[in-house]
Amino acid sequence: MKTKSRRRSVAVFPGTFDPITNGHVDIITRCLSVFDEVIVAILVNSEKRPLFTVDERIDLIRQAYRKNPRVRVETFSGLLVDYAMKVDATVIVRGLRAISDFEYELQMALMNRRLNPRIETVFMMAPESYSYLSSRLVKEVFHLGGDVSGLVPALVERRLREKSAPEGYVVPRRRRRRSR
Ligand code: PNS
Repeated sequence: MKTKSRRRSVAVFPGTFDPITNGHVDIITRCLSVFDEVIVAILVNSEKRPLFTVDERIDLIRQAYRKNPRVRVETFSGLLVDYAMKVDATVIVRGLRAISDFEYELQMALMNRRLNPRIETVFMMAPESYSYLSSRLVKEVFHLGGDVSGLVPALVERRLREKSAPEGYVVPRRRRRRSR
């Protein structure tokens, strides 16, 4: 008996990712248990003045998922729904942290549906432990000397330290804790 081959499910997880946080990592990881492939799509936005360049952000996310061929990291500009169609994705995934996110996300989801009803937006709730976490706050806390460990991947923390170090200074690697 012939079995019908199922179409690969591809989801786009769009954002600015300046930089990627553990909240983003949590969403991407959970997407992998629902979709066959996740495309992390970085918006190239000339209006914003990001801390990390697009290439740096690509590198940070690729490093985090270098062992997982089901995660792709790309950039896009223009309409998100057009990009989703181009890469054969049927779903846009967004994370929701708090009620305050909802209004903006609802507007985007409804506008995207109006633009292209074939693309569905799916929301994933951030875990309580990351419900206050954002790239903007990470940058602010870091620049004011606060501790951001546990909020971003270790490599991101290192790159933040490199960015704020005086020219020529080599930031030492954080020593790995010995596992017990
Ligand atoms: O990480 P962010 O800044 O919350 O991500 C916002 C993003 C990239 C998802 C949003 O700005 C976007 O989709 N921009 C693409 C332009 C677009 O499609 N606009 C119309 C739909 S609202």
